[in-house]
Amino acid sequence: MTRLMVRGVEIRKGALDGPAQVRLIDALRPVLKAAPLFSPVTANGKAMSVRMTSAGGLGWVSDKGGYRYQPTHPRGSAWPAIPDPVLDIWRDVTGHDRTPDCCLINYYGEGAKMGLHQDRDEADFSWPVVSVSLGDDALFRIGDTVRGGKTESVWLNSGDVVVMGGPARLVYHGIDRIRFGSSRLLPKGGRINLTLRVAV
Ligand code: SIN
Ligand code: MN
Repeated sequence: MTRLMVRGVEIRKGALDGPAQVRLIDALRPVLKAAPLFSPVTANGKAMSVRMTSAGGLGWVSDKGGYRYQPTHPRGSAWPAIPDPVLDIWRDVTGHDRTPDCCLINYYGEGAKMGLHQDRDEADFSWPVVSVSLGDDALFRIGDTVRGGKTESVWLNSGDVVVMGGPARLVYHGIDRIRFGSSRLLPKGGRINLTLRVAV
């Protein structure tokens, strides 16, 4: 594993080897069955290109009512539990016993991207945000803690783990594009990003 620091964000290149990535995908399969991916819209009614769902006590949703955490999937059911191998990554990386409330699952199909934003719907920014890349390569852009600052981009590959914590907890970040078909981890291609957060 190589540790890269980009604008205060820690990028653990190759943190998960191939078998660990396969174990994660296997653990996510029943989660995606119980809580199917949906296409969120932003507060101003625009469809996001990323499809998403969550695991954990709280899931992150976006609709015309705005962005928020809630205890149920839009279709009304409780979110499934966060799989153990995912919690193991959180413990390994943060050293914290407190488990995250939310594991957001983002799926990027061909052409999907995510605009620059801050993760700021959580109550306590002293908890880090941990994110896991699985599947196709993605161009990750990291900015400043204020909008409009300088940005730097880095390719994230399957098995990379990103930690946004401390002074970098509130940096702007986003995904400019993915290289669709660059990985064989997911049978239909694309990219899954898991974001682990303590929300309340
Ligand atoms: C996010 O910020 O929600 C996703 C980041 C990523 O896909 O790597
Ligand atoms: Mn984010």
